[in-house]
Amino acid sequence: MNAIEASAARIRVAGPVPELAVVLGSGWDRAAELVEAPTDIPYPELPAFPALNVDGHAGILRLGRIGGRAVALLRGRKHAYESGDAAAMKGPIRSLAAAGCRILVLTNAAGSLDANMGPGSLMLIADHLNMAQRTPLHDEPGSDRFVDMSDAYDPALRAQARAAAAQAGIALHEGVYAWVLGPQFETPAEIRMLRLLGAQAVGMSTVPEVILARHAGLKVLAFSMLTNMAAGLSDESLSHAHTLRNARAADQDASRLLAAVIAAI
Ligand code: HPA
Repeated sequence: MNAIEASAARIRVAGPVPELAVVLGSGWDRAAELVEAPTDIPYPELPAFPALNVDGHAGILRLGRIGGRAVALLRGRKHAYESGDAAAMKGPIRSLAAAGCRILVLTNAAGSLDANMGPGSLMLIADHLNMAQRTPLHDEPGSDRFVDMSDAYDPALRAQARAAAAQAGIALHEGVYAWVLGPQFETPAEIRMLRLLGAQAVGMSTVPEVILARHAGLKVLAFSMLTNMAAGLSDESLSHAHTLRNARAADQDASRLLAAVIAAI
């Protein structure tokens, strides 16, 4: 048995077999409290999952139900900026697909390029710009690595998410997410460029996971929490601490949004 098969087998016996997985990014972790009767598996016990070393957190896979739906929540992701490796989340995503997941919901914190989306706003990702021009699929054999990305963010799931947000009374913007490698923030000139290219949000995650998920045949839905105006668009200086502080201010809305969306899709 390889690492992905072993991880999938462990997931399938640990809790209700998940049909839907959610990667909880910065600002979204509060949604872990939504899970009824949770079972936690630390990433080090799942051979295909990466070792994390952010703030001493190992990363936890939480299994259980939200609104009756069997889910797997990934509390902690490995970013491409930590190693330069865009395939850092290959093991978890393939393990979840092998365990039976059919939908992957991705969440992140991002900078806003749109004056209408201030800090604390939530955005449904409609499409992306892979500005890092990296791929998690470079060493894949065969022709299925030529993944069609035209409807990467599933249009039917997006319509359901918009309706669920409206019904729950949560303002949900929609726009294009630009992936930059990081970990440094962008320059004001880079932000002007990204605006010209049609981006509404900028961040350092998610896109490699979308590519991996589409390659694995999973449907994708993704959300950004805008934690700050991007470089040059406000007087505030940018820092990771600032991002996390603003993320905490909006985490209740984020959690309500996920509960509404998971019940609807
Ligand atoms: N830029 C890139 N990534 C981010 C930002 C930003 O302004 N805010 C949160 N993540």
